[in-house]
Amino acid sequence: MATSLPVLWSGPRPRPPTTTNVNPLRLTTPRLVLRELAEADAPATNAWESDPDVVRYLTTGVHTLDESLDYIREVRRASAETPRLLWDLGVERREDGLLIGRVGLCVRRPEHREAEVWFVFRRDVAGRGYATEATRALMGWGFATLGLHRIMGDCDPRNARSARLMERLGMRREGHLRENWWLQGEWCDSWIYAVLDREWSAAAADEKGASGEAPRRSAR
Ligand SMILES: CC(C)(COP(=O)(O)OP(=O)(O)OC[C@H]1O[C@@H](n2cnc3c(N)ncnc32)[C@H](O)[C@@H]1OP(=O)(O)O)[C@@H](O)C(=O)NCCC(=O)NCCS
Repeated sequence: MATSLPVLWSGPRPRPPTTTNVNPLRLTTPRLVLRELAEADAPATNAWESDPDVVRYLTTGVHTLDESLDYIREVRRASAETPRLLWDLGVERREDGLLIGRVGLCVRRPEHREAEVWFVFRRDVAGRGYATEATRALMGWGFATLGLHRIMGDCDPRNARSARLMERLGMRREGHLRENWWLQGEWCDSWIYAVLDREWSAAAADEKGASGEAPRRSAR
C-alpha cells in the first residue's frame, strides 16, 4: 500500500516582495522628507547618537562623530546591495531642513515578506508626532511597494515612548522575550510588536472613513 506524505502546505505560496531595488528612496509627508543619508550628515546624526538619553535602549551605545560616520558608510554600503533589503533613512523637517532623526526598514525574511522597523529621533523634537508621521510613511511604503505581509519591531519594556509609538501605528504586542539582549551592562527584555498588511489596510480605510471620505477596503 502506498504511503502518502503529510501535506504541510496546501495553500498558495506566499509571493516574494514585489520590488526591492528602489534606490534612492525619497518619501514626503506633510511636515517631513525621508531621504537617503549622506556622509555629510554625520554631524547631524551624531547630535542624537551622542546623547545618552536617546541611545539608552539601543544596541549601539553612545557614538563618537567617527562612529556616526562609519554607521552612515555601512548603511550606504548595505543599501547598494542587490536586491536591496535595507532602507535606513534620514528624516528632515521641511520647515527648516533640520535632520531630526532616522527611521529604518529592513526586509529580514524576503521569502516570508517580513520586515523590521526602527526609529531614533533627537530628544528636543519629541512629543510632536514626527516619529509617528515618518514611521507611518515608511511602513505604508513597505506594504504598498514592497508587498510586505508583516512588519515587526521590538523595544525594551521600559522604553515607554517606543512602545507607545508602535501601538499608535496599530502594531500589536505579540510577545515578551526575557533577557534576550545584553545591553549596556545588563540583561534586557524585549517586547515584540507587529502589524499585518490586512490590518494596516483596514486601519487606513477606517481613517479615511473617519475623515469623511468613503471607506475603501483593501483588495485582499
Ligand atoms: C521612540 C521615539 C522615536 C518616540 O518619539 P515620540 O516623540 O514619543 O514620538 P512622536 O514624535 O511620534 O510623538 C508622539 C507624541 O506626540 C504627540 N503628538 C503631538 N502632535 C502629534 C501629531 N501631529 N501626530 C501624532 N502625535 C502627535 C502624541 O500624542 C504623542 O504624545 P505622548 O508622548 O504624550 O504619547 C523617541 O522616544 C526616541 O527617539 N527614542 C530614542 C530611540 C529609541 O529608543 N528608539 C526605539 C528603539 S526600540
